[in-house]
Amino acid sequence: MISLKEKVIELNQALKGKTPQESISHCLDVFNNKIALSTSLGIEDQILTQMLVAINKEAEIFTLDTGRLFPETYDLIERTCSKYGINMKIYFPDYIDVEKMVNKKGINLFYHSVENRKECCGIRKIKPLKRAFAGLDAWICGLRRDQSVTRTDMQLVEWDEGNGLIKINPLIDWSEEDVWKYARENNVPYNILHDKGFPSIGCQPCTRAIEPGEDVRAGRWWWENPETKECGLHKK
Ligand code: ADX
Ligand code: SF4
Repeated sequence: MISLKEKVIELNQALKGKTPQESISHCLDVFNNKIALSTSLGIEDQILTQMLVAINKEAEIFTLDTGRLFPETYDLIERTCSKYGINMKIYFPDYIDVEKMVNKKGINLFYHSVENRKECCGIRKIKPLKRAFAGLDAWICGLRRDQSVTRTDMQLVEWDEGNGLIKINPLIDWSEEDVWKYARENNVPYNILHDKGFPSIGCQPCTRAIEPGEDVRAGRWWWENPETKECGLHKK
């Protein structure tokens, strides 16, 4: 039997030239119930949710509620679940970790250093993500190559070394234009912040609107330089 890691090459070959829907469908068959969509509720993930639900309503979809999301994002969780009649699994950070961190370093510690920011992402996202991974062989994400300088080398199917899992990025080749065309044509519910200058949405204190012509991820951790701007969910 081949290992999970060896399946990456096989899958990349099998999915060559396939649509995102075909790729998702194939991966659901291959990984059965050991696969889940990890959604941030951004437009790419909303498209993946729509595609996944159309294939199998029972497929697992989870999100990491950091406790610092925008109110608009919470509204969208509610709207999405009710539109599709699904349950999204929500993971929270460990309250003891959060209490320790903010009592020692301040409620908005992330603005003070990259180290603090990574500690906060570690506690609020990475640790809960590890819990979400229990029992999974593969996770589906909404990464696109043209989102940022940190993502240009990413593949449709990747080996996620840090987590020992296969990572699938069905929209990896899509442009922003492709994304919005699909969303409009398929009535995909989306975060109203996308209409207010927020192409990429994370936690409220760490996301701002961008100016026309700026990089789509320019509003994420805008006070840092572009090379550090990954939270650890996706290694370079
Ligand atoms: S991030 O690493 O900078 O936050 P980004 O917002 O571009 O990532 O999202 C990339 C992918 O990471 C999403 O498509 C989604 O699969 C996953 N992701 C990001 N944030 C979350 C979250 N809060 N919960 C679940 N998955 C997430
Ligand atoms: Fe903390 Fe900001 Fe990371 Fe959210 S994005 S977990 S608030 S540092």
